[in-house]
Amino acid sequence: MAGLLIKNGRVVDPASNLDAVRDVLIENGKIKKVGVRVKGVGVRVIDAKGKLVLPGLIDMHTHLRDPGRPDKETIASGTRAAAKGGFTTVCCMANTEPAIDNPAVVKYVSDTAKSDGIVNVFPIAAVTKGLKGEKLAEMGLMLEAGAVAFSDDGQPLMGSALMRKALEYARQFSVPVISHCEDKGLSHNGSMNEGALSTAIGLPGFPALAEELMVARDTMLAAEFGQVHIAHVSSANSVELIRRAKRRGVPVTCETCPHYFSLTESAVKEYDTNAKVNPPLKTPKDLKAVIRGLRDGTIDAIATDHAPHNIEEKNIEFNSASFGMVGLETALALVLTKLVATKALTLKKAIEKMTVAPARILNLNKGTLKVGADADVIIVDPGAEWTVTPSQFASKSRNTPFSGWKLKGQVIYTIVAGKIVVRDGKLL
Ligand code: DOR
Repeated sequence: MAGLLIKNGRVVDPASNLDAVRDVLIENGKIKKVGVRVKGVGVRVIDAKGKLVLPGLIDMHTHLRDPGRPDKETIASGTRAAAKGGFTTVCCMANTEPAIDNPAVVKYVSDTAKSDGIVNVFPIAAVTKGLKGEKLAEMGLMLEAGAVAFSDDGQPLMGSALMRKALEYARQFSVPVISHCEDKGLSHNGSMNEGALSTAIGLPGFPALAEELMVARDTMLAAEFGQVHIAHVSSANSVELIRRAKRRGVPVTCETCPHYFSLTESAVKEYDTNAKVNPPLKTPKDLKAVIRGLRDGTIDAIATDHAPHNIEEKNIEFNSASFGMVGLETALALVLTKLVATKALTLKKAIEKMTVAPARILNLNKGTLKVGADADVIIVDPGAEWTVTPSQFASKSRNTPFSGWKLKGQVIYTIVAGKIVVRDGKLL
């Protein structure tokens, strides 16, 4: 494979505290040099003047629906959506059919990613058999088979004793349990945030407390028994609970998703099922608290919770529709438009939350442009404005509430282990 020389781009590598115009030389799938006036012999040169050169993004929370739901997504289509969105690594959740709850399914995902995928895929294994919240899955064996963390995401672990055991077990391997915080008794049949709006439009409420109670429980359990990572944080009280736990030294990390800092519950006012997510979109006060949490470091990472669903599960009555929205192809532009352009976060901080932060949480040797690192790199045109057009998604699903939105920041190149997989914004 010929080398690549990316010249004159604004290189932002939070892991090495770098934000400057530099050249990046890639050889044999690795970062060979980052500097000024770098020369390469027999390499292909890309002029990145006026563009951002970033470590490939890492999504620590993706639903690839493989095995089992090729109508919604496959590893082939999901990794293409990832590449288009600037993600060179995705960590895929275990709520597949069958679930990723034994070493054979972990191996199926890894093998299929190698044969059909175009970005790196790391499976997250189920905590319990069949995500039923009853018996622990074969956690150690699944790590040996290549899983990087544990989660029953999509379902909470309602049993506190079971959560304790999972944390204790995962701690032996220095990996986190990723918690989908939802008290099922409280969320019950709710389909949107409980409050004045749910009452006014007649939809059953899913109270913020359903998330917050479990954040409180899991941070308390983590203080005693192991390392917890809270998935998709959406509420002001959750952010505050995590902030206080971190101050006490509790081993807790967390993520939020672009929809929680880009939308509020009013997005479901016209019964748009594409804005129906779990946890539900909340109030402007919650949105502000999420942004404050990102700013002060309470929220470590930004993940997509890419949750593809087909039209049969979305184009129906609100209460019956599935929770979730696709996110891989809009996440970076939402971050650039809603957080960086508004100066809520510096570019370096924002990129940190999509690269080295998830890499650290999941012990992945990725997310940086340091010499010797895997050459997972993206080139982004920060000024390019584009309109979200779901029919152009590489994902098999179209369930986004951002259709028609004008966003800033377009991925021009995606490079995985030195190989170009997206050029001029198009999949190769
Ligand atoms: O909205 C969601 N969709 N939240 C989850 O936790 C699960 C996900 C899914 O799998 O569809």
